[in-house]
Amino acid sequence: MLTATGLTVHYGSREVLHGVDVTVASGELLAVLGANGSGKSTMLRAAAGLTPAEGTVTIDGRRRGPLDIALVFQRIHLVGRRSVLDNVCTGALGRLPLHRSLTPALFPRSVREEAMACLERVGLADRAHDRASGLSGGQQQRVAIARALCQRAPVVLADEPVSALDPAAAEQVLELLAELAHTERLAVLAVLHQPDLARRYADRIVGLHDGAVVLDGDPAQPVDSLYPHALLETSS
Ligand SMILES: Nc1ncnc2c1ncn2[C@@H]1O[C@H](COP(=O)(O)OP(=O)(O)OP(=O)(O)O)[C@@H](O)[C@H]1O
Ligand SMILES: [Mg+2]
Repeated sequence: MLTATGLTVHYGSREVLHGVDVTVASGELLAVLGANGSGKSTMLRAAAGLTPAEGTVTIDGRRRGPLDIALVFQRIHLVGRRSVLDNVCTGALGRLPLHRSLTPALFPRSVREEAMACLERVGLADRAHDRASGLSGGQQQRVAIARALCQRAPVVLADEPVSALDPAAAEQVLELLAELAHTERLAVLAVLHQPDLARRYADRIVGLHDGAVVLDGDPAQPVDSLYPHALLETSS
């Protein structure tokens, strides 16, 4: 369980996130919705420790550790000329001894086997030995998710993981994220711009507007109460 309390972020003298509280339970896919500029990425980066923020972030009641959170982004960062399997193996770098992580060409067999299992999990084991650059966008995003699994982090934070994908690939990736949340008991937070996808795949929806949470609800609620007008307005 990820618990962020009182997350406050300033850029210069401007406060853009105003004491946001957010939780993501293990086994839950939380969708975060909100207009451009509402603070979704800032909240995600603050929760991950990538942006300096006031507030506290704990995972299962303990202080967040450097390997506790795996990240997935809209722009997929794979090493295109390396194999799909190598890319997934890099998820394990944080727990390898330093000399291993300096020579990632030599991933130990145990890591390669685990990476292969992660690829099986996302349905891409048959592409393990292809160059990453040869995969479609949707497949590459699934490789990025396999890499996150290989990190063994209990929390996955995904910033617009499907915004660059066509509708069918977007569905596949969200279905995968929901399934992994449920079966692997991961706490998964995904920033989305598609309310319909959030409704169909998320267990809970949080809405941000102007750096504050304006909605925290069950996707089964009626559309009108789930998407108050404020959520759809561009933040100032
Ligand atoms: N590095 C930065 N320096 C200064 N201001 C920033 C920086 N990053 C974001 N902001 C500001 O913080 C506010 C929140 O931005 P953020 O990127 O978190 O929004 P968002 O909800 O992720 O938007 P989008 O849907 O466009 O990705 C915006 O007003 C933005 O201009
Ligand atoms: Mg953003």
